[in-house]
This record gives sequence, structure tokens and C-alpha cells, in this order.
Amino acid sequence: MSIKVTDGLFRLETAETSYVFRVNEMGHLEQIHYGRKLPEGDIESLRHKHELTHGSAVLYDEEKDSSYCLEEIPLEWSGVGKGDFRVTPIEVKLPDNSFTCDFVFENYSLQSGAPAMHTLPSAAGNGAETLVVTLKDKAFSVYADLYYSVYEAENVITRRCVLRSDEEETVLIKKIMSYSIDLPDRNYTVITLSGGWISEANTIERRLETGMLVNESTSFSQHRNNPAVALVANGATEETGDVYGFNLIYGGNHQTSVELSPVGLVRVTGGLNPYCFLWELHKGESFETPEAVLTYSMNGKNGMSQNFHAFVQNQVVRGEWQKKERPILINNWEANFFQFRQNSLLRLAKRGKRLGCELFVLDDGWFGDRNTDTAGLGDYAVNRKKLPDGLEGLSQRINRCGMKFGLWFEPENVNDNSNLYRAHPEWAIQRPNRKASLGRHQKMLNLTMPEVRDYIVENVTQILDHCSISYVKWDMNRKVSDFEDGTFLHRYMIGYYDVLSRIFRERPWILLEGCASGGGRFDLGHLCFAQQIWASDDTDPVERLKIQGGLSLFYPISTMGAHLSMAPHQQTLRDTPLFTRFAVAAFGAFGLELDPSDLKPVERKTVASLLEQYRKIRKTCQFGRFSRIETGNRNIVQWQAQDEEKTVILRVKTMVPAAQRNDYLTVTGLKPDALYHLKEIGNPLFLHRFGGLMKHILPIKLKPNGFILRTVDKYMKMDDFAESYTASGAQLMAGIRLHRSFIGTGFSDKMHMQGDYSAILIEIAEEK
Ligand code: GLA
Repeated sequence: MSIKVTDGLFRLETAETSYVFRVNEMGHLEQIHYGRKLPEGDIESLRHKHELTHGSAVLYDEEKDSSYCLEEIPLEWSGVGKGDFRVTPIEVKLPDNSFTCDFVFENYSLQSGAPAMHTLPSAAGNGAETLVVTLKDKAFSVYADLYYSVYEAENVITRRCVLRSDEEETVLIKKIMSYSIDLPDRNYTVITLSGGWISEANTIERRLETGMLVNESTSFSQHRNNPAVALVANGATEETGDVYGFNLIYGGNHQTSVELSPVGLVRVTGGLNPYCFLWELHKGESFETPEAVLTYSMNGKNGMSQNFHAFVQNQVVRGEWQKKERPILINNWEANFFQFRQNSLLRLAKRGKRLGCELFVLDDGWFGDRNTDTAGLGDYAVNRKKLPDGLEGLSQRINRCGMKFGLWFEPENVNDNSNLYRAHPEWAIQRPNRKASLGRHQKMLNLTMPEVRDYIVENVTQILDHCSISYVKWDMNRKVSDFEDGTFLHRYMIGYYDVLSRIFRERPWILLEGCASGGGRFDLGHLCFAQQIWASDDTDPVERLKIQGGLSLFYPISTMGAHLSMAPHQQTLRDTPLFTRFAVAAFGAFGLELDPSDLKPVERKTVASLLEQYRKIRKTCQFGRFSRIETGNRNIVQWQAQDEEKTVILRVKTMVPAAQRNDYLTVTGLKPDALYHLKEIGNPLFLHRFGGLMKHILPIKLKPNGFILRTVDKYMKMDDFAESYTASGAQLMAGIRLHRSFIGTGFSDKMHMQGDYSAILIEIAEEK
């Protein structure tokens, strides 16, 4: 049993954490402990003490207790107007026209599993146990059911609130969060993932001082602020120390507030963003909030990430691809944009196949008049000029090449210049009295309307069921505007989940990749349907280290779409080595985003060989236990993935100094006494990287950019020095002194000849 209830004391136990609260003398839910696992026993040392109060305090019930002040008590839920002035999880206008509310314990129930939600996606509940604590407002028949589902193996507790009313008069919900919790102050740094288009998921660290930090989104999209938040206790590192993580299974407008109160309590409350929100709750109705995911680890940020990764893989992601290695795909977007024909696509697919790709994805531009992004969106009839044999013909031919076929859709939006908009302007989200504001030349369809949802479901499924489609990329390229209010935005999300559920729950064989102008929708709500999400339109690997590294705090590697593209990069003009582009994307749901015919012959051969090697480490990279390794050098990023069979290490040097110092490689998690073989995956050296330096090592005089060297560079490469050792786990974990890197004094075949943005990939396997 992971939930124990005795005399008003609730203990929620996971493998490594304990979450304890009680019903106190006033009937409030008092938080006792959330953190490392504790043996059962007396809670006296943990309980909040309040013999005296602060001078300016409002006393809850002076007659009963002259020192009981809600402001000072660690709580599991709170209200308004009774002396708790911290950020509140609930603001409701009750029948007395007042926002004053006071929720006290009514009863509780236990159940195995986790009850599914009616309107929103939620975690699967495999192996979970659920506690529902019902609180009732003291003056009105308004109830808050607090759901706690305990996922023992994953060290996760999910929380949500269902608000119910038995009042004749309508109750107005202005704000209702999924959870609220008060923790002792530990000098926290708050981590959020913030950014924008092609700059998603920057890890922002802010010291929590007295006052409040708010992480929120008002535009659905999480480009700006992902819903995930971490609290890192003072001194915690990647490997050690106390870290709390919070996330939401919701892709709409979200808000998480972290408030350090003057008495040293940290309140975290998260859920639906109250922005423009007003929901009417009538007698007999209930309102359910999104499910929130809470975790704690005493093993640093990596410990928190590993809890989240296991939870997402076991309880959030679904379908036949849940735990399957992702196919290596080739996507035609950066190769073609809107300019393609059936034959050019087939050529591209064949070239991809020759390199080792397993899935061909046809991106935007295949339907209606969609030859630019100003027309055709909404009309999902295939463009016969481009694809004379239709999608059926194209998908069959792709299949005959030995590849699976995938297709791009953007069903939530419409161009004014489309048949759909001409027929149904009333289906678009716009105000009757204002000129609509466009985003990427398009309007959003109103998914709160059943007929709009039916149109999308019919059109998409008609295509999915008549062609051989194994993969869908579901895009969404604008932020919302011209909406009614915040409740409309929430109803939109409910409609959106209905559409996804009707299409994809019945087709579990389809691999769904979410996308929103890159990583604008990276959240657990989408991951309940999509097994992976395109992490960013920025495919520069140096940028991707930040993006994928940031996302890795909360989301597993298997969920991050990551592609090898051409350099100089479309987004940064940075020229990065081919191997680095490969190696960083290898820690993701890997694909190619290029036309192989734009590569030199030697580069094509190299990519083919790298993909062959990738297939052997793919499972470990995507599903292994992932850690970010601290190397102490700001210019080095090191990641590690590990399963029973292998350890794979990626190490990227972003900037190299002249006179490079000794290099050490840190390895963790091996069995000390076992014998391992470590080898570096071959790293190509292309001649053009050395420019004019070539002439210093060539036996004969050749012009660096002359015909001969250009021709050699097209067809030949050298191999960089590759590390290789056989040693015990203990020895490898003691740190490996790597061979030297280039320091400008010449060339040796025992040294690494890599400069800025260079990567090494290392594979370690136990010797059997
Ligand atoms: C968005 C996506 C891209 C691509 C284009 C197509 O920008 O992020 O990957 O699909 O749309 O229009």
C-alpha cells in the first residue's frame, strides 16, 4: 500500500519519497512533509508549531486558538479572506457575492489506479493508488475534491482538484488551481524553461527571494514558458541535493506561482492560468482542473529528471510506439519547402533510404493551393498537379522503396484564401466587431464547435485510413488571438483533446509527432497523444544543446524530435561539423532534414555509416537512464545515457581555447567490478575543415582551394583519433585522461583534431 491513513494523518509513499499531511484541529489540511522517504512514526518533530503569532496576524478563530493564523501554517489547500494572504489556489464568487471561502475536511476515499478524467487527458494510472480528500466550504455546499495519485515506482505524485457545487445559485470560478503545497524555505533557485521561436527551452535560473515568481503562458504555446518548474535547494547539483519538480498534463494557458512568504514558507501552486478566466458552475456540476505532476529527488537535478522521464515513458506516452525505438526519418521540409513534385519526392526518399532512413515524411505543401503559406490551409484534398497519383500512389511507392510513409497536417488553422474559409467563415475564431489578427497568414478554427471538430476528424481520418500512413506530424503555427475569454481558451483545449483522442486513440499504430512552429507545444498534455514532439525549428546542434538539454530536465530523450540538417544552418549561419550535427540529434528522436544530394559523396558515405552505428546505440540514447554530467568547464556539454547493455556518452566542446588543456572524461553508473570496453564512434575529418593549414602537412605543394584538394575533399576523408580502452568500471569511473586535442604545433595521428563545436560519442559495453 502506498497510501496510509490513520487518525486524520495521510502518508503517501513512493519508492524514495514520502508525502505527509494531516487534518488539523481546525479541519484544514496541514502539510507535514514532502521529501526524502521517512519511516513511519511520530510526526511531532515535523509538525508546524504555533505557540504565538506575529503582531499583525489575522487569527482564524481566536476563541478556539489565539495563535492559529492561516498565513503561518503549511497547507495543502487554501482559500480567501480568512487570514492567508499568500497566493491562493482558488478564487470563487459564492452565492453571498463574496470571494471569502474556507475549505475544511469533509471525508476521503481510496481507490486503486487513477480515475480517468472526463474532459482532459491524464496519466495512465498503471500501478497507482489514488486518494481523494473532499473539502467543503464552511458556509456553502461547494466542495473541492483533491485527488492524489501515487506512482510508487516513478516517485511521482499527481494532484488535481475537482470543484463541485450543490448551491442553487451559480458559483463563478475566477481561479482554480490543480494543487497548492507549502514547503520549508531551503534557499531555492527556481528553474523554468523560457524562450521563443527557434530559441525554445532556455534554462532560466532565478533565486527565490521573499515575494513571488510566476511562470505562465497566455497564448497556449509554451515557446515562451514551458509549464514545467523545478525548485533546486541551495547547494544541489546535477547529482546531489534536494530538487522538486512540478509539471502539468495540459497544453493550454498555464500558471505556476512560487511564493516565499515572510515567515519562510514556500508556496507552489499550479494549474490553469486565471488570465481572462470566468467559469460558471451550476448546481450539480463539477469542474476538473488539469492533472499536475509532482516529484522530489535527493539526488539532484538528474534524480528529478530521471523520475520525470520514467513517469512520462510509463504513464504519459501511449500507443504502440510508447517504448519502441523511433524510426530514423527523412523530412522534406528544409530540403524542399513548398517546391516539390511526386518524382522529386521519390528521389529524395530513395536517397534517404540509401543512407539508412526508415521513414519518409512529406511536410507542408501537399494539398489544396498550398504553394506558399498564404493559401490552402484547411483544404485537405491532395494537390494532383504535384502528386498525380495522390497520396495513395505516393505512399505505396514509398513503401515499395522499403520505407514507411508519414504526413504533415495543420488541422487547427485556416487561410482566408481556402475553400474551407470561403464556405465556413463562421468556423474561424474571430470577433464579429473587430478585424481579425492573423498569425502566419492564418486564423484558428473554433474547436469548441462540434461541427468543426467533426470536419477535422473526418478529413484527417479519411486520409489516414486510405493511405498507408505510419506517422503524422501535427503542426500548429500560430498563437491565439481574437478570443472571447479564458474559459473559451480552456474549452478550445477540451475540444482539441477530443479531436486528438478520436483520431489517434483508435489508431495506436500511428507515430504522432507534435509540432507548433518548432517546440511551441512541448508539454505533457500533448505527450498523452504524441509520442514525440519536434523540439525546435532551430536545427543548429550548438543551439540544440541548450534546447534539448533544457527539455531533458523534465522530458525524456525519446520525446524530442531532433534532426541532422545542412550547415551553415538556416537559423544561425553557423557552420558546424557533420559529426556534431549527427551526435546531438542522436540524443533525440532522430531524423534527417536535408536533401542528401546536397551532401558531398564522402559526406553521404559518412552519414550512411553513422546511421548504421546509430541503430546499435539508438535504444540506449532514447530510452536509457539519462544524465547531464557536470564537467566544470562551461564550454563542454556532456550527456550520458545508460541501460543494462550500454552506456553512451556525448561530449561537445562549444568553444576551444588555444593551448588546449588536458581533457578528462567523466563516466558514472558503471558496476565497479565489471570489465568494460570503451570505444569512441569514428569521427570523420574532412579536409576542408583545415583550409590553408593543409599545405603544412602535404608532401607536395597543392593549393588549399585548388582543383586537386577540392576533388579529394569531395570523395575522401580522414579519421580522427578514436579513444579505446578495456578496464574495470571502477577505473573508468575514476576519470579517463583523453588523448590531447590539437594545439597548433602540428599533426599527430594520436591526437584529436577537432576544433569549435566538435563532438565525441563514446560507447561503453560490459565485456562478457
Ligand atoms: C512549422 C514547422 C516546420 C514545418 C513548417 C511547415 O514551421 O515547425 O517544421 O513543418 O511549419 O510549414
